[in-house]
Amino acid sequence: SKNMLWGGRFTGGLDPLMVAYNESIYIDRAFYAQDVAGSIAYARANKNLGILFDDEFAAIEKGLSQVRTEWETGKFEIRAGVDEDIHTANERRLGEIIGTAIAGKLHTGRSRNDQVATDMRMWLRDELRKIEQYLVDFLKVIAARAEKEVEYVMPGYTHLQRAQPVRWSHWMLSYGLSFAADLERLREVLKRVNRCPLGFGALAGNPFGIDRDAMAKELGFDGLLYNSMAGVADRDFVVETMQWGSMLMTHMSRWAEDLIIYSTAEFGFVRLADAYSTGSSLMPQKKNPDSLELLRGKSGRAFGQMAGLMMTIKGIPSTYNKDLQESVEPMIDHVKTVGDSIQIATGVLSTMDIFPEKMLAALTPDMLATDLAEYLVRKGVPFRETHHTSGRVVALAEKEKVPMDKLSLEQLQSVDSRFESDIMQTFDYQRSVELRSAKGGASKSSVHEQVQVLKGML
Ligand code: ARG
Repeated sequence: SKNMLWGGRFTGGLDPLMVAYNESIYIDRAFYAQDVAGSIAYARANKNLGILFDDEFAAIEKGLSQVRTEWETGKFEIRAGVDEDIHTANERRLGEIIGTAIAGKLHTGRSRNDQVATDMRMWLRDELRKIEQYLVDFLKVIAARAEKEVEYVMPGYTHLQRAQPVRWSHWMLSYGLSFAADLERLREVLKRVNRCPLGFGALAGNPFGIDRDAMAKELGFDGLLYNSMAGVADRDFVVETMQWGSMLMTHMSRWAEDLIIYSTAEFGFVRLADAYSTGSSLMPQKKNPDSLELLRGKSGRAFGQMAGLMMTIKGIPSTYNKDLQESVEPMIDHVKTVGDSIQIATGVLSTMDIFPEKMLAALTPDMLATDLAEYLVRKGVPFRETHHTSGRVVALAEKEKVPMDKLSLEQLQSVDSRFESDIMQTFDYQRSVELRSAKGGASKSSVHEQVQVLKGML
């Protein structure tokens, strides 16, 4: 069958596989509401130009509202093999409702090139605003837990080896502030997403002097795009969103990895709620952190979509080429993956039990070896020397097979005579973290400041 939209110059039909290969309706149907809104704004602008009579515009607006209602109520029937994409489907249906004599005027000066770019930007803007709220909610949970659980001290790790004591809240905020930077970046990306390409036509612009500012305003855009050739082919806003989402998913993946480790029996710092765990079909005792594993795993999908689209667009000649249709599916899936991931992470964190006694039990006196060195620094000894001295204390404790804090003062003084009886105060984890009170450190005051900084970014 000949395509009603562009069939004029064609004589033969499409190869059936080509029909399926070419169509995007089962994906871009997601834009039905944006497509209807864009068409109404476009028709209104054409009415104001005198291209549509008032009653024609009224018919188009009413007909398009019915089209939207049919989508909303699940009554819209996609015509397989005929409805190539959401734009052709909606226009075909509008023609059935109000007659093709009037419906046929809607597309005057417009192209699916500016139409799809408009739909995508509106859809993405709306989705990113939802995600912005999910991210704010997640950050609120982090801030609230960090405030409430500020007392608890745990081992901080480098190389996954016990390093220095930190506050549990300090760990939470280490991710919290990375996610807050993602929130800042999202707001920056949104500014560029939310610019209007409608009125560019196929590539060269509108010949009737259409009021692009009025359409952009009606459709809730923050501003215009200013070059028609660039604007119809620009998918940078999708790439940038995916770069943003990929960065967020690296944070998500590392956060999940930490918690997977902390939830093992060997660590036992945290326990996931049943709502975010699953069992084993074979081993009855198992409770697996599938939510966290999926957060880690789905990050790979997100990065792949970003890299894939960059490869798709890098060699496209200007302006619109059908390759660009390949930006739609990964965009929709990427945004869903990121949005779902943030909500899952929020659920995990807000329902997770923690075991501060396990965190405390995982701390070992040798994690205060740095503090021991710093004790001598406070007495005027150069750090390089105190580092060496403290290392010898660690070695002595190993040789004597006692924890470092069980060495006698005499034994410590055998390593360095400048150790005095107040050295025993050093073996106190709370004291150690409280000493790290410079801005951004693990002390209570610093944690509270971090919470304030984070809240200020919401
Ligand atoms: N469905 C297409 C897309 O997503 C828009 C159609 C533009 N097609 C065209 N032949 N100019 O890119």
